[in-house]
Amino acid sequence: MRKVTLIEGDGIGPEITWAIKEIFLAAQVPIEWEEENAGQTTLTQKGELIPETLVESIKKNKIALKGPITTPVGKGFKSINVQLRQMFDLYQNLRPCKTTKGIKTRFEQVDIVLFRENTEGLYSGLELFDERLGMADSVARVTKKGCDRIIRAAFEYARKNNRKKVTLVHKANILKSVGRIFLECGEAISKDYPEIIYDEKIIDNMCMQMVIKPEQFDVIVATNLFGDILSDLGAGLVGGLGVVAGANIGDETAIFEAVHGTAPDIAGKGIANPTALLRSAILMLNYMGLNEYGQKIDHALEVTLADKKACTGDLGGKAGTKEFTEAVISHL
Ligand code: NAI
Repeated sequence: MRKVTLIEGDGIGPEITWAIKEIFLAAQVPIEWEEENAGQTTLTQKGELIPETLVESIKKNKIALKGPITTPVGKGFKSINVQLRQMFDLYQNLRPCKTTKGIKTRFEQVDIVLFRENTEGLYSGLELFDERLGMADSVARVTKKGCDRIIRAAFEYARKNNRKKVTLVHKANILKSVGRIFLECGEAISKDYPEIIYDEKIIDNMCMQMVIKPEQFDVIVATNLFGDILSDLGAGLVGGLGVVAGANIGDETAIFEAVHGTAPDIAGKGIANPTALLRSAILMLNYMGLNEYGQKIDHALEVTLADKKACTGDLGGKAGTKEFTEAVISHL
């Protein structure tokens, strides 16, 4: 049995992680949860946003599943998600966006996998603010190593999963330095994958193309800020943040997470939708080589989502978290 660190998080976190535990138990997934926590709850209980015991647990297990977390606003706290990504060098942010039968969206055939660079670019933390001059700098530093590894990860994923095309997104016409290094890496690496079509798009055109004809895209790779924006655009194409998975992956460690927030407006009411966290958990199973269990749960989830009656309110149904979880289990 492999151990996985489980972070239930705040708000609806405990409700949706309960659902995952129940479904994994019913599917007899051979993993053991090691429960730790972070966020508002641990700040109140232990005076720590990211307890040392959590860090030690992730270091040891190298794999974690995380519910949404509240980072207190305006008190000088750095985002917990950003801290965990930097602490474990989780440079790949992975966001699959696929149309689901039963979830009404504008498009019917979207199947995009987005790779966002997660540690550099405009989120490097290189910030200067000169009050006297009324001047501010946010530095978008990228490195060749950083560009290389995220682009290679996108191509490797495409090769392993029989994907046809990788689209690299940039703004090299204006952001000459960052754009140049990212493009040069893309052009060089693409030569190692001759079976995959390599495509380059400028970010503004890319946004327009994605909302007009998203079916033309397959695997997408982008620097941090562009990738962040495109990830949510992609989620919007297939039903929103409540139904898409997310993963932060490094060479040694990976944290799989629900990409939505803690939903304080519905916390404790038993109506939260566990789909996003469950899909992240399925990604985790595939990453761990437990594909057989991942496929079984994925199938049960798809059948449940196709039946409106079994869905939670955010998807137009009337079921609560418990009924939804029971429906998934009944389809295993
Ligand atoms: P949110 O995603 O929590 O909520 C936005 C809307 O979506 C709300 O109406 C909420 O009820 C609904 N919603 C979200 N997840 C849902 C689910 N699983 N089932 C049903 N409905 C769902 O975003 P908001 O309100 O901007 O942020 C609330 C808190 O979450 C903040 O403290 C923020 O810092 C935190 N947050 C944490 C994230 C993380 O840990 N990955 C990501 C985004 C926000």
